[in-house]
Amino acid sequence: MSQSSQHSRSRQQAATTALDQVRNIGIAAHVDAGKTTLTERILFYTGASHKIGEVHDGAAHMDWMAEEQDHGITITAAVTKAPWRDHLLQLVDTPGHVDFTIEVERSMRVLDGVVLVLDAVRGVEPQTETVWRQRCRFGLPVLFFVNKIDRPGADFLRVLDAIRERLDVEPVAMTVPLAEQHACIDLLHRRLLRFHGEQGEELSAEPCPDALWAPVAELHEALLLAAAEADDDLADLVLNGGEPEPERVLAALRRGTLAGRIFPCFGGSALRNLGVQPVIDAAVDLLPAPLDRPAAIARRPDGEPETVAIGAKGPLVALVFKVQLWDGRRHCFTRVYRNRLKVGDTVAFQTADGRVLKEHVARLFDIDAGRKTKLEEAGPGQIVLIAGLRHAATGDTLCDPEHLLALERIEARQPVLSLAIEPAAGTDEEKLLEVLDKVEQEDPTLKVEEDPETGQRLLRGMGELHLQIVLERLEREFGQQVRTGRPAVAVRETVTHKARAEQLHCRPASPDGKQPELSAWAMVEVVPRGRGEGNAVSCRPRLRPETAALSAEQQQALEDGLQAGLASGPLQGAPVDDVAVALIEVELFGQQSTPDALQAAATRALVKALSEAGPVALHPVMRVEVVVPESNLGSVLGDLQQRRAAIQATTTAQASVDDSASIRCEVALEALLGYTTELRSLTQGRGQYSMEFERFDVV
Ligand code: G4P
Repeated sequence: MSQSSQHSRSRQQAATTALDQVRNIGIAAHVDAGKTTLTERILFYTGASHKIGEVHDGAAHMDWMAEEQDHGITITAAVTKAPWRDHLLQLVDTPGHVDFTIEVERSMRVLDGVVLVLDAVRGVEPQTETVWRQRCRFGLPVLFFVNKIDRPGADFLRVLDAIRERLDVEPVAMTVPLAEQHACIDLLHRRLLRFHGEQGEELSAEPCPDALWAPVAELHEALLLAAAEADDDLADLVLNGGEPEPERVLAALRRGTLAGRIFPCFGGSALRNLGVQPVIDAAVDLLPAPLDRPAAIARRPDGEPETVAIGAKGPLVALVFKVQLWDGRRHCFTRVYRNRLKVGDTVAFQTADGRVLKEHVARLFDIDAGRKTKLEEAGPGQIVLIAGLRHAATGDTLCDPEHLLALERIEARQPVLSLAIEPAAGTDEEKLLEVLDKVEQEDPTLKVEEDPETGQRLLRGMGELHLQIVLERLEREFGQQVRTGRPAVAVRETVTHKARAEQLHCRPASPDGKQPELSAWAMVEVVPRGRGEGNAVSCRPRLRPETAALSAEQQQALEDGLQAGLASGPLQGAPVDDVAVALIEVELFGQQSTPDALQAAATRALVKALSEAGPVALHPVMRVEVVVPESNLGSVLGDLQQRRAAIQATTTAQASVDDSASIRCEVALEALLGYTTELRSLTQGRGQYSMEFERFDVV
């Protein structure tokens, strides 16, 4: 079949494939492991794209946002369809840079399985571990693809060891790549697979010659034993030395993989077109269809849980997992869990702040990288785009207005870096605000705020690269030029010892008598808590006079007063963290102790207590892993020490596969500003690092 007819077939198939033939999968990796290249190969071999777009010439099909092509990394999760053996793979591309982990997390939320790409030289890298933790959180079945087997120093078996050691699971080798022969040994079928044609698109299989089989026979045994654990009858056969039918072994492996007990591993080189098709086969054979996944748990408005089995029966449940602007319009990426979503439907949802809204599904689209195709309806398991929802946001559960439900929310992280921005000369401020609002809606990790003191507009995000990409989008996509200040790191405040303070709040009556006299008295105690424990607030004060009682409004006002005090610390007005606050005593003066008076007394007593309790600033501390050529280790370590990094471990070449050394450390985010450039110059461009927010701490 020609590529173009296959292509249109993929489009038609999208809407019609039976649910058990759909595979919603994501490809995840540490940055640069080859996720984009692998995705491009999959799209090419399945006929979903006409030509292979190489990452290094900026033509990759999935990286359709201009910024991604410039930075050479995949930032926005885009959904792409790929038909394979009467099945439909829905690929959700996920970013590898740590500034964008929210993207990884929200795609994981709607995936049924993951292909985790590892670099055959570098093995398990820091981001591999981050992605691994996320996949564990959602209990997603995984296949490993050990890529870049063509690179000097690549070692498939060592990567399997690294999986054992660092991810603490037992990998099951399915193929063993042979870079020199440009072939793979298929351990299940005892075959040698060769990849021919200009782009490896032609596959031939022959019985594996004995000389090649002998060194891998043990891996074949291990594969059978792993399968036997998932099938008792198979176990009898294998333990008695029998050789079971490959189909039966495959079925057992599937069961084990779906249950999260078996982790099949493949090897090859995406760039050299080696070993990719067996991974596509495995996505069909070993990864779950939507119906194979455990039912989701949703909450009713009264908090009662309801099990949402994926399928046609029961009222509608669909999850918005991403909002994106398309041709200037708002579109919601949505996964349907139960029942069908149709054009013209009215859907209801509860927003993050608890409001219940109803909206109209104006249009539905099947989505394929940068292209969309109109649909009339979408069924369970499908991932579609909805146009016409003005308010639905990432994490909202769309449902039948008569049957409100909410699936677990997607966690949004706290932005740790901010940048003051203002329109450049000639840029319209109002237009800029409008655009910022749109961009903010798309990205739950981005916040646009006004600094209450300076009146400056602040863009808050997850890191330098994140903010840089946002600025580039403003300019390129919306023609908005902005001037920016220096990046500033988010801080928190906390206290170092216990303190008590009291405050009488008095306001005399206004001379015209319109505003009556107000007064209230409060005593507050603050006690430091451990790092990362957050605040604990107790608002059950002793009352004076003893006969007094608080009305519901007065109680609420006291609670609001304490929250207001915590929102703005005594040092820099930053949010206060890790403090136990107790409202000890309150004195009421009859009618004068209005809710306003009580709120002011509580806030002021708290602010006083905080300032007397040894307040200190807390700064974001990042967990960082730096990988550099061993020859640069000394200078990179020296530089990190100057940045006051707490070095936790250094691994040198003896323990790693190539000549690289890695450093794990914790560093204050402030000290990392501009680190990308410095590391590049210290290592002639060969050093890499990744960072992840760890905690707020005193530095
Ligand atoms: P990512 O999405 O996981 O970040 O990785 P991506 O596919 O962008 O690949 C990162 C780099 O690795 C690319 O080179 C790509 O060509 C290369 N690469 C991918 N697969 C293989 C492979 O099997 N073997 C080898 N040797 N290289 C592979 P690039 O963009 O040109 O970056 P660079 O080479 O300039 O660093």
